[in-house]
Amino acid sequence: MRVLVVGSGGREHALCWKLSSSPLLGQLWCAPGNPGTARVATNIGIDALNIPALVSFARENAIDLVIPGPEAPLVAGLADAMQAAAIACCGPSAAAARLEGSKSFAKEIADAAGIPTALWERFDDAEAARAFVRRRGAPVVVKADGLAAGKGVVVAASEADALAAIDAIMTERVFGDAGAAVVLEECLVGEEVSVFALCDGETAVPLGIAQDHKRAGEGDTGPNTGGMGAYTPPPAFGQELQDRTMEGFVRPALAEMARRGTPFRGVLFVGLMLTHEGPKLIEFNVRFGDPECQALLLRLRSDLLSALQAACAGELERVAPDWSDGSAVAVVLAVRGYPGRPERGSRIGDLARAETVQGARIFHSGTDVTPDGQLIASGGRVLTVCGTGADLAAARRSAYAAIGAIEWPQGFYRRDIGGRALRAT
Ligand code: AMP
Ligand code: GLY
Repeated sequence: MRVLVVGSGGREHALCWKLSSSPLLGQLWCAPGNPGTARVATNIGIDALNIPALVSFARENAIDLVIPGPEAPLVAGLADAMQAAAIACCGPSAAAARLEGSKSFAKEIADAAGIPTALWERFDDAEAARAFVRRRGAPVVVKADGLAAGKGVVVAASEADALAAIDAIMTERVFGDAGAAVVLEECLVGEEVSVFALCDGETAVPLGIAQDHKRAGEGDTGPNTGGMGAYTPPPAFGQELQDRTMEGFVRPALAEMARRGTPFRGVLFVGLMLTHEGPKLIEFNVRFGDPECQALLLRLRSDLLSALQAACAGELERVAPDWSDGSAVAVVLAVRGYPGRPERGSRIGDLARAETVQGARIFHSGTDVTPDGQLIASGGRVLTVCGTGADLAAARRSAYAAIGAIEWPQGFYRRDIGGRALRAT
């Protein structure tokens, strides 16, 4: 098969790495990719959001399957454009990608499908939103309704913080039109986990559970980020939570989407809060998480390409993913200052020594190579340094030994990825 992966982060490097070992693979491209994907695929200089150029490339190169990594191209209609060109694409249509693209749409689907979630209300008038906050008080969660690169959510501990968030989102429009409306939600309390499922519109198969660490600082302090590290499987949440999520969240959502004539195809990411009343939906995403994907794929023993192909063909009944028994941990190495405006261009030392650590694997998240071959930082999250092992403790040892072998003074990482889960075991 001739395959095109779309995106340029650590998730896409992990996808390309896993796909490159598939017996079904003929040739692999990544648009635009990064120096990591270049090791296992051919990078092409097309932006992930340049849908017409992606379709032309796929046509001219007889691509059999397109695998989108990030949400933005899906929300913008990448899968629809590929379908119109008769090219298979393992991701949802723009209509189905609204599960991530619009917070209020996701909540509507949850309510219609009987999926437990926080109480919510949508406001497209800032004064009405403020009045709601004054009436209901804090804590309250304020969300930009549209896509805001994972940054449009404020968990406001005080009324003043909530009012400030409404002003920033709706009046100052810090997230642009994504802030034309806000969703105000009841604040849920509990442990957060991400459950993944591969869907073909009707059927779904589980792809595992991971736990992300969203705050920049150790002990879950500091600003929210795209994710500073993840591990899988969480020792405390196993088969039972997975089954419960498939029955109570994934299947009802798929049925409701199909009923509306917009079936969901692709990877569904169910963000759950494990409250004392049971699991509740925080959000749906319409793709793999980053860095959850890196950790999950390190445990996948069976072929990813045939599973994704089956999802596109509506043949998921024949897919039963096989996982290794051990654990995987993904630690993000980011530029100091992330998630603020990080400095680009600092030189990263040789990765070869880190790559020899047993069980370790490094995925590139935001790197570039200078004309003289020097690896430099080009994004906020720069590398995802992963470790695998027989259990969580061993996987953590491997990841942290590898990260310790990387010379890059401008970088930082959290030392506590998977730490709380390990202490709890
Ligand atoms: P989201 O972009 O929807 O994933 O939200 C980002 C983060 O905000 C989540 O990972 C949660 O930690 C937090 N969050 C979102 N909604 C709620 C809620 N209703 N209650 C408590 N925390 C929330
Ligand atoms: N790591 C969270 C996300 O990909 O949205």
